[in-house]
Amino acid sequence: MKKILVTGGLGYIGSHTCVELLNSGYDVVVIDDLYNSKLSVKEKIEELGKREISFYEFDLCDEDALRKVFEKEKIDAVINFAGYKAVGESVEKPIKYYHNNLVSLLNLMQVMDEFDCRNLIFSSSATVYGDPEKLPIDELQPATFATNPYGYTKVMGEQFMKDYAHAKSANMIALRYFNPIGAHKSGLIGESPNGIPNNLMPYICDVASGKQPFLRVFGNDYDTKDGTGVRDYIHVVDLAKGHVKAVDKIFNSDHDLGFVAYNLGTGQGYSVLEMVDAFKRVNGIEIAYEICPRRNGDVATCYANPSKALEELGWKTEYGLDDMIKDHWNFIAKNQ
Ligand code: UFG
Repeated sequence: MKKILVTGGLGYIGSHTCVELLNSGYDVVVIDDLYNSKLSVKEKIEELGKREISFYEFDLCDEDALRKVFEKEKIDAVINFAGYKAVGESVEKPIKYYHNNLVSLLNLMQVMDEFDCRNLIFSSSATVYGDPEKLPIDELQPATFATNPYGYTKVMGEQFMKDYAHAKSANMIALRYFNPIGAHKSGLIGESPNGIPNNLMPYICDVASGKQPFLRVFGNDYDTKDGTGVRDYIHVVDLAKGHVKAVDKIFNSDHDLGFVAYNLGTGQGYSVLEMVDAFKRVNGIEIAYEICPRRNGDVATCYANPSKALEELGWKTEYGLDDMIKDHWNFIAKNQ
């Protein structure tokens, strides 16, 4: 059985990916420093995946601790979710973001190289496309822009992987996520951000549960169907399955892939106001909102052309908007 190291494996996307890996017959080793996750998620993963996982609690910036894991476990491939992800905080604290997200990735690549593990899947983001030149966004568009330090850690992370794949035979896959929402149908795992949420869906849920009085809609004067920002929301379970397909691709290929990037999105864009309406339709809860000024760094529209992932990984999304909104709220309502 192949063994996959999942860094940040107790986090939102990481935990769902661990479950899908276990259910697809992979062994899973998790490293997580619990910065933005809870230890109790480990048992939930094991319950849903019907198997135990190995768990190590430390920060990936600790290279020696990482080396010890590679000495103990025979790792066949790594999925790197570990990293800070709050866009606004990254603007306030750029060094914190560059240090954590890039030093951890460099340590990982260094130790993988020492142990001759050349299979890495990296959590990238649609943010690498900046303000896209054309829509839908395909992987041929330049992926070298970002509007904040968090986004640049993704651009640079991809560059590290490209350079490594240029120097050595390797499988370096960057998965560019669009906007993950939703949760596992069981309601056992999902997203529980600390403090006031930055992202739309967690914020809507805070309004629904009375933690916030209303949603601030950041701008209604964009060149979109109703003037509000349009995004490609993707169910986190579909996203998790995309990682399993990428791992399968590495092990089923008869040649090294080098560096390759895939968009993981649905190809469908929804506006902020469409999300508010859908929440009411699906969950029966009205979301009060106010139109506010645009948020710095936001683009009007962002949605994927996901056909490369379909053609090369055999991956496509299964869940629609209603599932995402229902499952996201189900997790929050069960866990508050
Ligand atoms: N929005 C609001 N009010 C809020 C929060 C968001 O109106 O309180 C709007 C935004 O302006 C945007 C849309 O809802 O139009 C989605 O915003 P999110 O913050 O949920 O998501 P973003 O598209 O801004 O960012 C997300 C991730 C980033 C990632 C990026 C890639 O948070 O990590 O997608 O495109 F880089």
